[in-house]
Amino acid sequence: MSFQIAIDGPAGAGKSTIAKAVSKKLGYIYVDTGAMYRAMALYLLRQHVDVSDSSAISAAAGNADITISYVDGAQQVMLNGENVTGLLRTEEVGNMASVSSANPDVRAKLVELQQALAARENVVMDGRDIGTCVLPKADVKVYLTASTQCRAKRRYDELCAKGESCDLDEIEADIRDRDERDMTREVSPLRQAEDAVLVDSSDMSIEEVVAEIISLAQKG
Ligand code: DC
Repeated sequence: MSFQIAIDGPAGAGKSTIAKAVSKKLGYIYVDTGAMYRAMALYLLRQHVDVSDSSAISAAAGNADITISYVDGAQQVMLNGENVTGLLRTEEVGNMASVSSANPDVRAKLVELQQALAARENVVMDGRDIGTCVLPKADVKVYLTASTQCRAKRRYDELCAKGESCDLDEIEADIRDRDERDMTREVSPLRQAEDAVLVDSSDMSIEEVVAEIISLAQKG
């Protein structure tokens, strides 16, 4: 049986930074499920699919072949044979992903891919529904969160470091909207699994959060 660590939480809580560090320490693969939803969103944006038309999203989703591979331990996302990894972390794609990920056909397709990966390998998988839906029997479940202001400031710093111009208030408003959509959608809303450990990283360093999860994995 593979060992499974599930990390869920809202946008900007630091899931990917933490999950990457934990996977490196343990020698597990890191599965960034948000990137899969983002690849699907990129496909829908490129096809000019109307976000309010759920049957158009379902139909288009059937034509998006999304697969994952690893280069030097880093996850690569392929969309219909094209490596789109570098195109996924924009606000436009993230906002579209938050809308299109509410579609049950999109979710069914990507959850199947995620479960197949976790059945084969020891994984640290992050997302919104990993502990509640994708890997309900995960050995360790963490719900990683931080205050809205803190998450907005982190995303702001990340975008500034990349040289993108951005506005802190706009990012905070986007985060609030995204939280609202992710937590209130009908299919697999973001919520803490009953058996997940709550970690609030607002006043914790990356190293402290990583150490806490490694210690849970050693007990788990
Ligand atoms: O973690 P992220 O910002 O890359 O995720 C982008 C969007 O994808 C997010 O708004 C919600 C959605 N998502 C999801 O619904 N389920 C997941 N397991 C991962 C992401």
